[in-house]
Amino acid sequence: MVKLNGKKRLKVSVFISGRGTNLKSLINFSKTKNSQISINLVISNKKNAKGLFFAKKNKIKYLVINYKNKKNAENRILVELKKYNIDFICLAGFMKILSKKIISKYKNKILNIHPSLLPKYKGLDTHKRVILNKEKFTGCTVHIVTSKLDSGKIILQRKIKILKNDSEKSLSKRLLKIENQIYPRAVRKFAIANL
Ligand code: GAR
Repeated sequence: MVKLNGKKRLKVSVFISGRGTNLKSLINFSKTKNSQISINLVISNKKNAKGLFFAKKNKIKYLVINYKNKKNAENRILVELKKYNIDFICLAGFMKILSKKIISKYKNKILNIHPSLLPKYKGLDTHKRVILNKEKFTGCTVHIVTSKLDSGKIILQRKIKILKNDSEKSLSKRLLKIENQIYPRAVRKFAIANL
């Protein structure tokens, strides 16, 4: 927890692996006057992740963690989270599965955004699978991370219609905009409940 302009804010670490549009929207939210969070650490498992640009641009401390050895990588992550007094973690396109050790140390303190209407379509290639299955709707979900993949308590979910001519690409592009809207809202809701 930190105090900014006399207001309490929870300290957040965002984990990424790629483009970082959700990181960007969380940073924008953290910079608003009445935000309940401050983003103090960005962690990427990829040194070339485009999203690191947003950390650099906003002068947020970032670390690239080599995942060749998962156990060592996670031990380093735990040390860094402690060092920065991180209150909770947001996974934003982080494509590694966290082990039970981190999940239990940060029990109910890790959020994730997933591009489907959970509990439907857990795992990868969600857009491809919803199109193949001729679903009428898809969506995105912010949920608490537990040791069961994409299965923890849902914080927020938004549904969109799948259009006749939608491809995997058009659908993911349209849904990403919605993801970027709901992640900060879910984080606000979560932070208010945990402040
Ligand atoms: C987002 O679509 C997010 O839902 C997805 O990765 C993308 C990251 O985009 N996450 C997962 O599939 C996790 N299983 P971003 O790097 O632009 O935020």
